[in-house]
Amino acid sequence: MKIYREKDYEAISLRAANILTAQLVLKQNSVLGLATGSSPIGTYKKLVENYKAGEISFRDVRTVNLDEYKGLKDSDPNSYHYFMQENLFSHIDIDPENVHLLSGVAEDSDLECEKYERMIRAIGGIDMQLLGIGRNGHIGFNEPDSSFTVNTHVVDLTESTIEANSRLFDDISQVPRQALSMGIGTIMHAKRILLIANGESKADAIAKVVAGPVTPEVPGSILQLHPDVTIVADDKALSKL
Ligand code: F6R
Repeated sequence: MKIYREKDYEAISLRAANILTAQLVLKQNSVLGLATGSSPIGTYKKLVENYKAGEISFRDVRTVNLDEYKGLKDSDPNSYHYFMQENLFSHIDIDPENVHLLSGVAEDSDLECEKYERMIRAIGGIDMQLLGIGRNGHIGFNEPDSSFTVNTHVVDLTESTIEANSRLFDDISQVPRQALSMGIGTIMHAKRILLIANGESKADAIAKVVAGPVTPEVPGSILQLHPDVTIVADDKALSKL
């Protein structure tokens, strides 16, 4: 694992955007695995700046997102479809055909997950996967469990995740209880992984991910077994290492 210690969120965002930019310079038609949540917003902003400065184009890029809430339509402002449009896709030259997200309203969610898994394989797998980390160590929506779930699947969200994510909803009762998420295997098959974390609330998770035992109780700990992981974090997130 390579760890970059940055002074604040701004610096994390700049570093992460530069790493993603370098990935696109290296391979123009990369498959990027993308995340939502608070962590990557600054990274996407810097990526858009790099695009507007003419440093990169997304014309040949394909994207696959980690997850989506079950039950939310693409047009719902709390959906991850909406988040991605707002924070990245509507600002860049990506072909909408090349953007892939799980549908929260598929009639058969299990089939949706199977199709998603097959699609990722069919487009050649993920070149670089961007990740945030949950306070409980989750990656994607792979929550602490007694075993690692390999493939894309439907997840019951834990109370701690529902509570952490309720800040973005009017009321905690509106937070969906389930999501569709790439599995641990889907994430681990990415050729390169870039994890970003900021703030005190991530310190426990980062310490366990980097230096704790590899266990499904801390899903992110499996990243210790991946050959190409870069963590970009601030002092606070690294304070318990
Ligand atoms: C988002 C995702 C989640 C978040 C994690 C951290 O697509 O899969 O694992 O990365 O919950 O969220 P933030 O960045 O909001 O702290």
